Amino acid sequence: MLKDYELDKPTLETQRLILRPMTAEDAPDLKEWLGLDEVYTYWGRNASKGEKNPELLFIDPRPWVKRKPCQDFKWGMVLRETGKVIGILEIFDVQNQRMAYVGYRLHPDYWRQGMVTEALRCAVDFVFANTELLRLEATADVQNIASLRVLEKCDFVREGTVRQGKMGSRYCDYAIFGLLREDWEGLGGSCPQ
Ligand SMILES: CC(C)(COP(=O)(O)OP(=O)(O)OC[C@H]1O[C@@H](n2cnc3c(N)ncnc32)[C@H](O)[C@@H]1OP(=O)(O)O)[C@@H](O)C(=O)NCCC(=O)NCCS
Repeated sequence: MLKDYELDKPTLETQRLILRPMTAEDAPDLKEWLGLDEVYTYWGRNASKGEKNPELLFIDPRPWVKRKPCQDFKWGMVLRETGKVIGILEIFDVQNQRMAYVGYRLHPDYWRQGMVTEALRCAVDFVFANTELLRLEATADVQNIASLRVLEKCDFVREGTVRQGKMGSRYCDYAIFGLLREDWEGLGGSCPQ
């Protein structure tokens, strides 16, 4: 159940990656790539100050505010071979324990090696096997071939294309993808590796 993960976020493992919550100690790894312009070509906005200076991401600006339990998942993608955080995979904006959105970014040095596909398949399996979520949704600029491919390879269904819609703070044609629990169950309950 989502409630079980509100405080303790899980660590997941794939062949080449460990997906785990990040800490301030990961900031130097993130600094190598999280602020690069090429990561944001189809992201709907430019890199933020925090993404360019990841040490800022781990400072709580209002530590006196009691935070509500959070149902999102934000995993650092750690390459087993080096122990470095080379990507971020998020399940965010959980709505009524029913649906959530998926987002991912990877260090450009590791693009086109199947890393995000491997990570997303694992996250999908985790979500549908361990939480009550019924739908995962993702959007991708139609020009973002790599992201469209990742979603297809992870069996997300392309449900439509929004023409000149607003994605973040930019306008573009973007595709909407969805994966339902029932789709996943139909695939045998585990996306093929
Ligand atoms: C999108 C992104 C996460 C993909 O990660 P990745 O680990 O390189 O993806 P994978 O290797 O798992 O799969 C990419 C697929 O797209 C294909 N691909 C990548 N770039 C391509 C291109 N320019 N033209 C055609 N195919 C392309 C790859 O060949 C691969 O398909 P294949 O396995 O059938 O050969 C990565 O490019 C990234 O971080 N981009 C910047 C952030 C971003 O755009 N995030 C998504 C927002 S919706």
